[in-house]
Amino acid sequence: MHNASQSEFWNGETGKNWVTHDTLMETMLQPLGEAVIETLAPIAGERVLDIGCGCGHTSLSLAHRVGAEGAITGIDISAPMISVARTLAENRAEPSAAIEFLEADAQTHDIQPNSFDAVFSRFGVMFFEDPVAAFSNIRNALRPSGRLGFCCWQPRAVNPFMTLPAMAALELLPAPPEMPPRTPGPFAFEEPEYVERILTQSGFNGISVAPFSHPLVFGRGLALADIVERLVQIGPIAQMVREAPGDLQQPVRDKVIAAVSAYYTETSGMTLEGQFWHVSATA
Ligand SMILES: C[S@@+](CC[C@H](N)C(=O)[O-])C[C@H]1O[C@@H](n2cnc3c(N)ncnc32)[C@H](O)[C@@H]1O
Repeated sequence: MHNASQSEFWNGETGKNWVTHDTLMETMLQPLGEAVIETLAPIAGERVLDIGCGCGHTSLSLAHRVGAEGAITGIDISAPMISVARTLAENRAEPSAAIEFLEADAQTHDIQPNSFDAVFSRFGVMFFEDPVAAFSNIRNALRPSGRLGFCCWQPRAVNPFMTLPAMAALELLPAPPEMPPRTPGPFAFEEPEYVERILTQSGFNGISVAPFSHPLVFGRGLALADIVERLVQIGPIAQMVREAPGDLQQPVRDKVIAAVSAYYTETSGMTLEGQFWHVSATA
């Protein structure tokens, strides 16, 4: 099976945590997805594919843009997340475009060729074990000159959302093993030249990998200790803390609270500047 470890990851604890903290994550990521959708500019009647659509919020936003004559397909390997997406679509107050959600691997799923006007993704394309195979499959799904737009992370080192809590936790915990560059995961696409090469090899044209800064607002309205609890459950230190001995659980949390307190306000929660790539191309 392709992407077996990612499938296990997103169908296990992590997928369930994304479901539990769906509102928290959606509040933080919503403006980033909207910026990419704005540039992708789907219009009424178009068909759009949402890769790694997770709990489906971006698919709904796309559906709103393409209207009753359009159609959206969300694809994701996570059963728990796709299940939330389906419920969300069923409970839409104002049904717009037709939406279908596929629980499938975007790298290998047999998508009908030439069937989409645009492909979108919010942080859902960095997890393929064979990115050229995946993007070739995605390109094949686009009609000639169809558009691609997605966002992904710049390096961990320029993203304090990832480094700040981790550095505090590392004062008490051992460092996790370093992953080789380009390992499937959030930072697989940190090098813009690598992204460009993958897309070129997959047959895309007019490729642009542009820097995109946006604040990440995490846990608006929550107390600082609750924010740190969420970081421990779904954030960048989740695995490290999960594996830590019981007697270090609270001391680690105390270190993280001290580290992030300067970026916390009661009204906004924790706000840290984020650095991303906004990638566009055509088929
Ligand atoms: C960081 S989450 C982003 C989810 C969603 N796009 C969002 O912004 O809330 C990455 C998503 O990619 C999905 N994913 C990972 N590998 C995939 C694959 N090979 N095919 C389809 N989806 C995949 C995961 O299941 C997960 O939902």
